[in-house]
Amino acid sequence: MKKTLIVSVLAVFFLSMTASAFAAECPQPRKTKSAPSSDAKKDNTDKADAANGKALYDKTAKPMACKNCHGDNGDGAGKLGAALKPKPRNFACAETMKDISAGQMYWIIKNGSPGTGMAPHGKTMKDNEIWDVIKYVRETWVK
Ligand code: HEC
Repeated sequence: MKKTLIVSVLAVFFLSMTASAFAAECPQPRKTKSAPSSDAKKDNTDKADAANGKALYDKTAKPMACKNCHGDNGDGAGKLGAALKPKPRNFACAETMKDISAGQMYWIIKNGSPGTGMAPHGKTMKDNEIWDVIKYVRETWVK
C-alpha cells in the first residue's frame, strides 16, 4: 500500500519534470531580424479568414504546417520544434509577442528567418493565406 503511494508520487514528480522540460520559455530569447518599417506597419487581418488560418496552421500550410513546430497550443513546443535552436516562437508568451506586430509576422512568414528552422513561405503560400494564419494565431494566442 505504502509502496504504491511512493511509486505514484514519484510518477507524478517525473511526469511534471518532463512536462516542464518541454514547456516553452517565456520570455523567449529573440534575435529575429526586424521587418522594414513599410512591412512592419502592414495589417490586413481585418479582411482575413481565421477559420482558413486554422486549417493552414494545423494542416495545409506549405512547405509544412505551422503546428509541427509552433505546437498545438501555439507555445512553440511542436514535435519538430523541440529539436530546433533557436526554438519556434511561443505565440502564447505575451512578454515576447507584445513587440511583434502583425506586419512583422507577415514579413518573417513570407521571407523566413535565415539561419533558423523558420523557412520562407512566400513562394508556397498566397499573401491572403499568410494573413489568414496571422489572424488565427493572433486571435487564438496573442494576448
Ligand atoms: C520547421 C519548423 C517551423 C515551421 C513549420 C514554421 N515555423 Fe515559424 N518559426 C520557427 C522557428 C525556429 C522560429 C524562430 C525564428 C527566430 O528565432 O528568428 C519561428 C518563428 C516564427 C515567427 C516569429 C517572427 C518574429 O519576428 O519573431 C512567426 C510569426 C512564425 N514563425 C510563424 C509561422 C507560421 C504562421 C508558420 C506556418 C505557416 C510557421 N511559422 C511554420 C519554426 C517553424
